[in-house]
Amino acid sequence: MKKLLVFALVAMMALGMVASASAQTYKVGVSIYQFTDNFMTLYRNEIEAYFKTLETDDVKYEITMADGKNDMAEQTNQIQNFITQGMDVIILNLVQTSSADAVIDQVVAAGIPLVLINREPLAYDAEGKTLDEAYEGILNNAQVCYVGADARQSGTFQGEMVAELDNKGDINGDGKVSYIMIEGDPENIDAQYRTEFSVKALTDAGIEVECLDDQVGNWDQTKGQELCANALNIYGDKVEVVFCNNDAMALGAATAIQTAGRKVGEDIYLLGVDALEEAVQLVKDGEMTGTVLNDHVGQSHAAVDVAVKLLNGEEIDNYYWVDYVKVNKAYVDAM
Ligand code: GAL
Repeated sequence: MKKLLVFALVAMMALGMVASASAQTYKVGVSIYQFTDNFMTLYRNEIEAYFKTLETDDVKYEITMADGKNDMAEQTNQIQNFITQGMDVIILNLVQTSSADAVIDQVVAAGIPLVLINREPLAYDAEGKTLDEAYEGILNNAQVCYVGADARQSGTFQGEMVAELDNKGDINGDGKVSYIMIEGDPENIDAQYRTEFSVKALTDAGIEVECLDDQVGNWDQTKGQELCANALNIYGDKVEVVFCNNDAMALGAATAIQTAGRKVGEDIYLLGVDALEEAVQLVKDGEMTGTVLNDHVGQSHAAVDVAVKLLNGEEIDNYYWVDYVKVNKAYVDAM
């Protein structure tokens, strides 16, 4: 019997199934603002998958993935639990960016390095402040950073895809582009900047604009469909462009547009952000004018890489930026 056990153990070690005696397991706490968010689902799955690829016989990562349920009180509890459980590093997609300083304070006081993702805590250009200066004192130990994409770029790309059309988005030829805007959570800088910079790209190109409707869809597909259906009902043919701050809402808007008997590319244009697989398919099929790649792979890998650096005690930057990419018909045809 004993022989059999020894044999089994030797066989398992040979197969690499038993970690070497020196193996180190790092505990990683990840809290995502809301699991039901389409884009953040891709992002969090990639965080887990990428950590797995970095494991060796000597280094393992034990990931605890928590759902913030879009509730800051719930997420604050999760962070407190992470601190009690002695996480070695925390990756955090805040429910409310206005709570950033309180949260950073707690985590830093517990001596745990922190990687903030996706929801930028402060406009990095607000009064020209860097994250470090904005949280002066708190970041002295340089254990906190933000990984994200510059939302201004995604908005600009949306507007440019309209400005690049032959009719520059002016379908009825009345000299202006009449649009509706469907916004994400207005507390997010992503929603604020996409709303502002999509329209700015048009006006910068010398195009006159008219906002028919601007509503909050909170990044949600059902809400996007409802709001778009409603606006089409009220403004009918006047609506030339539907700007959605993300693809989930644009997918909803695409359904509303079909139901209303409208045809993208002929009597209406539709733009989103994220380049979800379903949205890219719609661009291919001509049912969406364009979307913008929000690179969840690049961002999750950058977040994990910097978390690993922090675990190894290496120096880090305060910001890591990943570029957006314009995804229109020409782009998908060349794919
Ligand atoms: C944005 C993304 C949205 C939503 C949001 C959550 O970057 O485009 O789809 O996931 O983040 O904060």
